[in-house]
Amino acid sequence: MRSGTGAKKVPRSASDEARIEFIRSDRWINYELAQDAVDRLTDLLTYPPRDRMPCLLIYGATGMGKTKLIRKFLRQNPQKYDRATGVTTMPVVAFQMPASPDEDLFYNELHRALGGPDVRDSWQGRTKNRCRNLLHAAKTRMLVVDEIHSMLAGTARAQKIFLNTLRFLANDVRMPLVCAGTDEARLAILMDSQLAERFDAFELPRWRDDVQFGRLLASIGETLPLRKLTRFDTASCRKAILARTNGVTNRIFRLIETAAVQAIRDGSEAVTEELLSARTLELPLVSMTRKSALHAYAT
Ligand SMILES: Nc1ncnc2c1ncn2[C@@H]1O[C@H](COP(=O)(O)OP(=O)(O)OP(=O)(O)O)[C@@H](O)[C@H]1O
Ligand SMILES: [Mg+2]
Repeated sequence: MRSGTGAKKVPRSASDEARIEFIRSDRWINYELAQDAVDRLTDLLTYPPRDRMPCLLIYGATGMGKTKLIRKFLRQNPQKYDRATGVTTMPVVAFQMPASPDEDLFYNELHRALGGPDVRDSWQGRTKNRCRNLLHAAKTRMLVVDEIHSMLAGTARAQKIFLNTLRFLANDVRMPLVCAGTDEARLAILMDSQLAERFDAFELPRWRDDVQFGRLLASIGETLPLRKLTRFDTASCRKAILARTNGVTNRIFRLIETAAVQAIRDGSEAVTEELLSARTLELPLVSMTRKSALHAYAT
């Protein structure tokens, strides 16, 4: 089994504050499908350059963990500064699709992700050339564009032009292009038959009551620094969690975190089915308040 966690544990004997802080901290929890996706990306990264490079679309509903796994992959393939040559290599360059399908803005984002300055006002052909040169200098082997569904914010004509931009880029740079977005993005890519031919699709479906879900819950349970043995990967807990979260990864994590914090505060020290279903459990407004920061990949 490949489930598990990359999170550093806090001892169960730690103070309430330290344990709550840990529970609320940003950490990566591994689960099979996310690991499969990261493995697919790793496999693509070793692909030798050829005329027609394979591309991958990672798609799933909002909050399913697409950005999270891209970040994980970036941490595994970080940029490196070579003191001897003074050159920074970036095996993977990831950036976020601008809010609309605008070629200028798109190349500007790529340029920025490559460490270049903001060139919004300059001639677009020049930015494209700069990007090409920077990609070459950084020995980049993969481009990742997150939030690709933002292209749907444009008119049908603008979307079509943008799909051409993507196709041109995939042909031009001869490296795998990875896009991440919602299912609507997948449908949009399918509109361009040449792109559809190139792109494999990897889905992050909503969680259902099955073995994989049980393993995810077990993995999360292992990371919780509660003082009593917490086994919430039972059938009744699984049902209670799915009923409250609609099977969305982000909501599942938030629900369990909230329950665990509550369990520390009230001294019960265990996440139970009753707690998970309790109406008094105040869930954060995750879907309305969470908005990933633009340019987050540059850091
Ligand atoms: N593997 C994971 N380990 C820990 N937390 C995770 C994991 N996957 C998802 N999450 C939690 O879910 C939240 C949402 O994940 P993420 O931002 O990657 O979703 P997304 O699919 O990119 O959504 P959107 O389409 O809205 O951008 C994360 O901020 C994190 O709290
Ligand atoms: Mg995202």
